[in-house]
Amino acid sequence: MTRIVHLNGDWLPEAEAKVSVFDRGFLMGDGVYEVTSVLGGKLIDFEGHCRRLDRSLKELGMPNPHTDDEWLALHHEIVRLNDIGDGSIYLQVTRGNGGDRDFMYPNPPVPQTVVMFTQSKPGLAQNPQATTGLKVISLPEMRWHRRDIKTVQLLYPSMCKMAAKAAGADDAWFVEDGAVTEGTSNNAWIVKDGKIITRQLSNDLLHGITRASVIRFAKEAQMEIIERPFTIEEAQAADEAFITSAGVFVMPVVEIDGKKLGDGKPGRVATRLRELYLDESLKAAM
Ligand code: PDD
Repeated sequence: MTRIVHLNGDWLPEAEAKVSVFDRGFLMGDGVYEVTSVLGGKLIDFEGHCRRLDRSLKELGMPNPHTDDEWLALHHEIVRLNDIGDGSIYLQVTRGNGGDRDFMYPNPPVPQTVVMFTQSKPGLAQNPQATTGLKVISLPEMRWHRRDIKTVQLLYPSMCKMAAKAAGADDAWFVEDGAVTEGTSNNAWIVKDGKIITRQLSNDLLHGITRASVIRFAKEAQMEIIERPFTIEEAQAADEAFITSAGVFVMPVVEIDGKKLGDGKPGRVATRLRELYLDESLKAAM
């Protein structure tokens, strides 16, 4: 089945969807994106992703090309057209085709480029890695200082995922001024003596939508959450660690820079939070 993608209001077979070589997303990384998971044909945490998309666009001085209702309808339509049960929807909005290469934003503004496509991932919630856990390595934080904006500038995270793989690990956590900021494409957490610790929000990290939901569900379940920075040494000495993102939900981490955490198996708290997140977010899925 040919994948049907969305481009600026049209539904097209993927091979027919074309964007200009002058698009600022391509030339300047001048665009933002969101990834929303789909489970059983329903959107997980859709409202959170919609809110963050709006915020990212505002921070870059771009209008939002659609209302929340329009975005919701587009998401439902792309799920339907591609018959997605489990998977994800990628959406990207760029500042558009400026007609030439220019550092300055087009003035007057030009129509933005809106792209959406699906990725089918049957059994997404039954990812076997959740039962074995991930190995991560630490690498220096070298991204820009507006990591709260979900831009398409993903080269450094890509380089670090490659470096992690070359080192025999699954992913990398970034370290800046001695503390972990986040993972390459996820938020980082540790658990010590029953306390669940994750870095507080700032421009230093992406304001994860899964992170926000996990905090809410954990608090409702009377679990203790502490939002503060932590070091790699503290993480290595923790009882458990895990990451959160729309791609993996809650995923245990069992090794950091070659040091096994606890017995080297996914922890009780991470496993519980994964179940809690999947149960609760499925109830609210749209
Ligand atoms: N990444 N931090 C970074 C740097 C991310 O790229 C992501 C998401 C997260 C987690 O955010 P959320 O819970 O809203 O997915 C944190 C997406 C999934 C990606 O780039 O594929």
